[in-house]
This record gives sequence, C-alpha cells and structure tokens, in this order.
Amino acid sequence: MDDQKIPRALTYDDVLLVPRRSGVRSRRDVCMRVQLTRHIQIATPIISSNMDTVTEERMALALASAGGIGIIHRFLTIQAQVKMVEHVKSPHRLIVRDVHTIRPDRTVTEARRLMHRHHVTSLLVLDEQRKVLGILTSRDVLPVQDALQPISLLMATGDALITAPADTTYDEAVRLLHQHRVEKLPLVDEEGKLVGLLVMRDLLDELQHPESSRDASGRPLVGAAVGVVGDYRERAEALVAAGCDVLVVDVAHGHTEHTMAAVRTLKQAHSHVDLIAGNVATGVGTRDLIDAGADGVKVGVGPGAACTTRIVTGFGMPQFSAVLACAAAARPLGVPIIADGGIKAAGDMVKALAAGADTVMIGGLLAGTDESPGATIRKGGRTYKAYRGMASRAAAIDRLRRERDEEEEDFLESLTVVPEGVEATVPYRGAARDVLYQLAGGIRSGMSYCGAHTIEELRLNAEFVRITDAGVRESNVHDIIPDM
Ligand code: XMP
Repeated sequence: MDDQKIPRALTYDDVLLVPRRSGVRSRRDVCMRVQLTRHIQIATPIISSNMDTVTEERMALALASAGGIGIIHRFLTIQAQVKMVEHVKSPHRLIVRDVHTIRPDRTVTEARRLMHRHHVTSLLVLDEQRKVLGILTSRDVLPVQDALQPISLLMATGDALITAPADTTYDEAVRLLHQHRVEKLPLVDEEGKLVGLLVMRDLLDELQHPESSRDASGRPLVGAAVGVVGDYRERAEALVAAGCDVLVVDVAHGHTEHTMAAVRTLKQAHSHVDLIAGNVATGVGTRDLIDAGADGVKVGVGPGAACTTRIVTGFGMPQFSAVLACAAAARPLGVPIIADGGIKAAGDMVKALAAGADTVMIGGLLAGTDESPGATIRKGGRTYKAYRGMASRAAAIDRLRRERDEEEEDFLESLTVVPEGVEATVPYRGAARDVLYQLAGGIRSGMSYCGAHTIEELRLNAEFVRITDAGVRESNVHDIIPDM
C-alpha cells in the first residue's frame, strides 16, 4: 500500500468556519427548522442519545419541549420502554409522581440536606397516611438560624397551602399558581393524600412553547430505539402501538447485512412509521441503509465521549469527514442524516450542520442534567452524574443480567466481555432546558456569523478552513486562570 494515497480525515477541532458578511440582525431572526426524517420536521436540530444514562421519559419531554426529540434507549424490557413512550404521550405527563417529601417533625438541617441531595427547591410535608400537611421551600429554610427547629414551624400550611384535585387541567393549574403566586401545586385525592405535583415552569414550557415538537394530536414527539436481533420485531411493534413517532434501529456497526435485513423487515411491517438506522461513517454505508428503507441515517463510528471503539478495534472515521461523506450520499436521495457523537460544545454542532448534517445527537453533554436517568454522585465537594457507553462492561453485564436468571449472577460476574465503551461521570449541569437553551443559542449565533437565516443557508454559505494545533490552542481559553 502506498502511504501517500491514504486520505486524510478530519474532525470538528481540525476545522473552523470563516465568518462572512451577514444580514442577520438578531439571533431571533434565524429559523433552525430541519428534517429529522423523510416525513418529520423539528424546530431545533438536537436529539438526545438513546443511552441508559441519557434518555428516558423525562429527557424525552425536555427535548420535545425545546423543539428537538429524545430517543428512548432499548436497554430495558419491552414493557418498561413502552411505558416510557406512553408516559410521554399521556395527558398526565407533566404530573411529577416521585415527589420528594418529608415528615413535619424533621429539622431544618435534614430538610436542607434533602433539598441539596435531590437538587430540589421544595419538599412536601406529609403525615404517615401521606396526607399533605404543608409545603416547605428553600426560601423557608435558608435564612433560618436555628437549624434544629422542626420544619412544621416553617412550612406553608392552612390557607397558605394551595392544593388541587388530581384531575385539575393544566390551564386551571396555571391560573391557580398565578393567582396565589406560588410555583408548585400538589395534587391530592378526596382524602387529601398526595397524588402528584405540578410545577409552574413545566406547565409554562408546555403551554407557551410554540416551537415544541408535537404530533398531529398535539402530544410531544418521541422516538425509541430497537436492535437488530432477538426481540426487535416484537419491541418495534409494541413501541409503535404505544404511539412512538420514530423508530431508531441502532447498532454500533450499522453497515452490516443483518442491520439492512432488520431495516427491511421493520419497514415492511411499519411502512407508516419513519425509521432511522445507523450507525455508519461512509457514503456507501449511508446509501445501503437508505436502499434498505431508512428514512434517516445516523452517522458516527467512535466519536462519542465514552466510546473506545476506535481504540479497541482500530476502526472509525473522524466525525467531520464522516458527516461530509454521509451527507453527500444522502442528500441526492432526499434523506436526512444525524451527526451522532463527539459534540463537546455548541460550535461543534454548528460545524456538523454546516457540513451537511440535518440534526445532531448528543449524549455526554445532556447526561449531567436533572432529566437524565444516571445516578447523582458527590465527589470532593462537587456533584456529577453517571454516564456510560452502551458497549461498556457494566452496560453489557446489565444487559445479560436482564436476559438471564438472577441465579446466574456468578456466571455473569465471571463473564469476559470486550468493551467498546467506558463508565464515567460528567459534571452536574442543572436543568436540561437550560443546557438546551445554551446549545440552541450557540447554533443561532453560529448562523448569524454565517449570514444564514436557515440551516439550508448555513450549509450553502459555509466556508471551512483547516487549522493547525496552534489554531486549536488559540481557539480554546488560554494564558489565563479561569474561575472555577
Ligand atoms: P457523546 O460524545 O455525545 O456521544 O457523548 C454519544 C454517542 O456515543 C455513542 N455510544 C458509544 N459508542 N461505544 C461506542 O463506541 C459505546 O459504548 C457507546 N455508547 C454510546 C452513541 O452513538 C451515542 O449517541
């Protein structure tokens, strides 16, 4: 082999977009609407990864509310995955069921500790029968000097405690919360027992976001992942019956005969549901999946934050070049592509979209939010959340454990898996809506630097330059000591 003939491939950090003359006056003047698949459009080109530390029902709701879409992972039983889709589609989706509660005789210190641990600003005060006695907010406990006081002395109760029946409509809840100038509305049954909680911010997100992603009946859009072996047909059927809007056939190496066969089978069985398939990193892989019936193609082999595929197997493609190649193959066929993995900041998304991706899939950057299912971890005075590759050892063992008897525990522990991902933590980042707002804001800003009012214009106007290591150093914060 002639080493001169080996092509060079680039990733996001290797390139920059050249600023150009722009008529965009404000970030509000740009439209980020894109095709997710052949038939589905979304207002914000952001998708959350189908990983078990990223997307379950809460993340899916946050994504839909921000105009993107969440893909519920497949590393759980069919019933559990279906329940999550049903929850997103349910009229009761905004009711928080796992409400954080406390007994009235507990102290201020205990209340503060609970709020801190669960990242919440209020606790419901219940008696032994789960009757609601009061509500305690961080404002009630923060200024208090005597940390041993029982919280019954500080909670809002009596006329100051606003509750509502379990069947209260969202509009009525907003009216009540506004009238009484409170943020949280406990829902109770006829005996006054706690049923759930409505939060003003969630209600406003739902009612006031014209850009949110909705199906024809006004319910949030949601996707769900399936594999290509085992129960995948049964799973897909149950997900479609539950109202899932898009199926994602998701395997690490999507350019395989069995993936194409699975795509063909699913497309035949569910011709009315759009199907995304992946992952691939080449033009020919993209074309083959589209030929098999894919309505969208997921691109990325090894760029993810928790991925070790390239290290373990020696295979992969730097993500910027993969996006260029796959977009060039998919565009003439009218099928959108998703740039999946490797997004470190909003600028990488702008580069991906300018290179031809229609949407971008994100794992690690969303794993640190309240809405991710990963465990919260405290280390050295800081808060983190768990994040793991779906081909990590722990994820592989959990998968096998689900499929086998619990008695085989010893067998599972002794299993030798060859992981292509790692288990890790990511910094805690607060509410997903705030992270998504920042990411979408970055895309809007990027479009204004390019004089683009639409994503299509961003693509057409884009001019990339390759940069050197010195350029990368200059791009990052340098020669200062940043505040932590
Ligand atoms: P980011 O960089 O956003 O990437 O965290 C998320 C994407 O990473 C992929 N993924 C994996 N890739 N081994 C891999 O090689 C793994 O264990 C693994 N788990 C997830 C996936 O495409 C996801 O959307």
